[in-house]
Amino acid sequence: MKKSTLFLLQGVAAAVALVAVGAQAKEMRFPVNNPQPVEGQFVHVPPTMEDLETADMHPELKRVIRRGHDLFINTQQLRGKNVFNSMNCNSCHMGEGRLPFAGPVWPAAVVLPNYRPKNDQVNNLEERIAGCFSYSMNGKPPAWGSDDMVALTTYHQWLAKGVPIYQSGKTMYGRGYPNLPDAEQKPDYTRGQAVYEENCAICHQSDGSGVVQNDKVVFPAVWGDTSYNWGAGITRHFTLASFIKHNMPLGRPNSLTDQQAWDVAYYINNHERPQDPRYTGDVKETRAMYLDTFHVHTSYGLEHDGKLLGDHDNVGEKDFLKPDALIKRTYTAD
Ligand code: HEC
Ligand code: HEC
Repeated sequence: MKKSTLFLLQGVAAAVALVAVGAQAKEMRFPVNNPQPVEGQFVHVPPTMEDLETADMHPELKRVIRRGHDLFINTQQLRGKNVFNSMNCNSCHMGEGRLPFAGPVWPAAVVLPNYRPKNDQVNNLEERIAGCFSYSMNGKPPAWGSDDMVALTTYHQWLAKGVPIYQSGKTMYGRGYPNLPDAEQKPDYTRGQAVYEENCAICHQSDGSGVVQNDKVVFPAVWGDTSYNWGAGITRHFTLASFIKHNMPLGRPNSLTDQQAWDVAYYINNHERPQDPRYTGDVKETRAMYLDTFHVHTSYGLEHDGKLLGDHDNVGEKDFLKPDALIKRTYTAD
């Protein structure tokens, strides 16, 4: 009988999570310089695409999971249809959506459906994915229940194999981009610029536009028309600071100090990018509408260098502001 077993790690010393998948036991060592799991944390090592090949599952299900994986790492194949910037899901959810501290995506498959303050309603997994299409990909989600949406949700669910449904999200090791301690000094644009030029510009370019070669994103844009828009979760300084600390520069995670991560995040997120799809036509009004739940952590609608950030109609490469899926759906049944 096949059964996956998940271990609650007993102590900080337990840097190695042993996961028994079927008869095979395998080891996964977490990236060494990331925080290691502590007592009481729930650790899940998602299955890999190699595991899929040997899994006892219907071939058709495997085919759909492979398609979901392919869409996740090469989301650019939907450019101009659902994606209007130079981002793949994998650009922020690194390691094929499996990596702790890099926004692993499996938690969503087991904590949803749940209430989400960002859109003030109960969201299922499709709607959560739709959120990243609308903001992070500056695009519009594939239709509910479409082949692409089914493939993506199926891939997410596969990554969550063996995790109890409604497992508490709060105790999950490495979920999302875990908060850094507060910056000692107020994050600073000029210091951030120096960090960026020294550690990041070689790949993401001094003008933030990244590198695209033969329609393949080599280095994604960190600001400007082909980056994430003003409504994306990563425009919040604390989210970006944590992403950077734990994942950048590529290949040298955790090499910046916390202060450098805060400064460079502040620098990046004080640059222009496509409009927040929730824009009312007035940036100050839009900031105020979403202030408590979101924009209190962003520079949107604030002044930088004598200009109000986000005070424009630029929606980047798309020809609409708000995807249909964002027009508020109300759950009306009793
Ligand atoms: C520009 C960065 C970025 C891109 C690109 C991106 N996301 Fe996200 N995603 C985020 C952020 C930020 C969060 C919120 C994480 C947090 O709360 O700490 C998130 C959260 C999620 C979650 C919820 C995870 C959880 O812990 O509940 C899912 C699922 C998800 N994204 C799927 C996707 C998919 C699918 C794509 C591609 C279509 C995508 N994302 C593209 C930044 C991004
Ligand atoms: C060696 C090249 C390289 C360097 C140096 C580098 N990055 Fe990245 N960065 C990448 C790649 C590649 C990705 C996409 C991840 C993937 O697809 O696996 C990425 C993704 C990102 C993202 C999320 C996607 C986006 O475009 O918004 C941000 C933000 C980011 N990097 C910021 C930084 C910062 C800040 C630094 C410097 C401290 C930095 N990077 C240094 C290559 C690099």
